[in-house]
Amino acid sequence: MSTLTEHAVLDALRNVREPELPGDLVSRDMIKNLVIDGSRVAFTIELTTPACPLKDEIEADVARALKPLGAETIEVSWGAMVRRSGPNVPQQQVLPGVKNIIAVASGKGGVGKSTVSVNLAVALAQAGASVGLLDADITGPNIPQMIGAEGQPKATPAGKIEPLERYGVKVISIQFFVPEGQPVVWRGPLVGGAIQQFLRDVDWGELDYLVIDQPPGTSDAQLTLAQAVPISGTVLVTTPQDVALADVAKALAMCRRMNVPVLGIVENMSAFVCPHCGEATEIFGRGGGERFAREQSIEFLGGIPLDVTVRQGGDVGVPAVAQREPGPAAQALTSLAQTVAARVSVRAANQQQPVLSIS
Ligand SMILES: Nc1ncnc2c1ncn2[C@@H]1O[C@H](COP(=O)(O)OP(=O)(O)OP(=O)(O)O)[C@@H](O)[C@H]1O
Ligand SMILES: [Mg+2]
Repeated sequence: MSTLTEHAVLDALRNVREPELPGDLVSRDMIKNLVIDGSRVAFTIELTTPACPLKDEIEADVARALKPLGAETIEVSWGAMVRRSGPNVPQQQVLPGVKNIIAVASGKGGVGKSTVSVNLAVALAQAGASVGLLDADITGPNIPQMIGAEGQPKATPAGKIEPLERYGVKVISIQFFVPEGQPVVWRGPLVGGAIQQFLRDVDWGELDYLVIDQPPGTSDAQLTLAQAVPISGTVLVTTPQDVALADVAKALAMCRRMNVPVLGIVENMSAFVCPHCGEATEIFGRGGGERFAREQSIEFLGGIPLDVTVRQGGDVGVPAVAQREPGPAAQALTSLAQTVAARVSVRAANQQQPVLSIS
């Protein structure tokens, strides 16, 4: 008699884990649509994020667990059910359809927050997640140009603002509401008011992730956001040199004071790799982000090299991760998106009931 029964397969899969989450694939209820047909086993693994970076590892573990049972063909399909995370999970009232809010912040200007925000949002959408991108930089909005979104949002029948859509990402920015070339010269309270409106009055619908591009510094926009919505986590962006690190320390201190979780820090413009000879030149110094992460006990989420295609893409509205031939920076940005999604999943899992392993 064949040992390849549903019971045996599930029993074997109890030995396989999503490496970053507690429990195993079966006790976490991640195995769906199991079909056994002779020596062929097919099922879907429902991940906690479509941008999971560990698919290969899980697939190899699954094969190791099922081969001894006589499974000759193992067909794994991937699904994802993103869980909600963030402080005050049950009290998420301002944005009831949004599961996770990811803020991108820095102390210093020009270090690459908007670049990281756009590429993070597009990479998550490319992985299959439903994603929104809120430009919280009210006086210096860059998101529309960087993602190539133009036009005026319409009102929905319910009187809400409909975000524009680019690369599968729902986008909102003050830029959509001001005449071309006109500056937004507003005092703090108005900045806070505009952000509140983007949170309350935009029809975001159901989102796995809402990415928020913050302006530099620690003032009105950051305060408004920290008080208005439960941020799942902040991604801090710095460049390697000391002046940027001194400023990002202030942004980190603000997150801590406001009880906003910090997912970790990204070092942008890490080194310039010459496209002709391949030599790396560390224009802004070396290892500053990593050192800072160690000193502050936060995670170093990775480095993104200086890459001309990032700047070009930002200028013409084709984000690096959406370019036809992704360069080294695009790969680093995609892997950053996977790491961020994985960390958010882990936070969500830790906030839920502990998973019971039934044997
Ligand atoms: N890794 C990179 N390689 C090359 N150019 C980059 C890289 N990251 C960002 N840039 C470019 O540097 C400039 C500043 O980046 P960006 O606007 O994302 O910074 P910012 O932190 O959002 O700035 P601000 O504080 O003004 O909001 C942009 O022209 C962008 O295209
Ligand atoms: Mg910016």
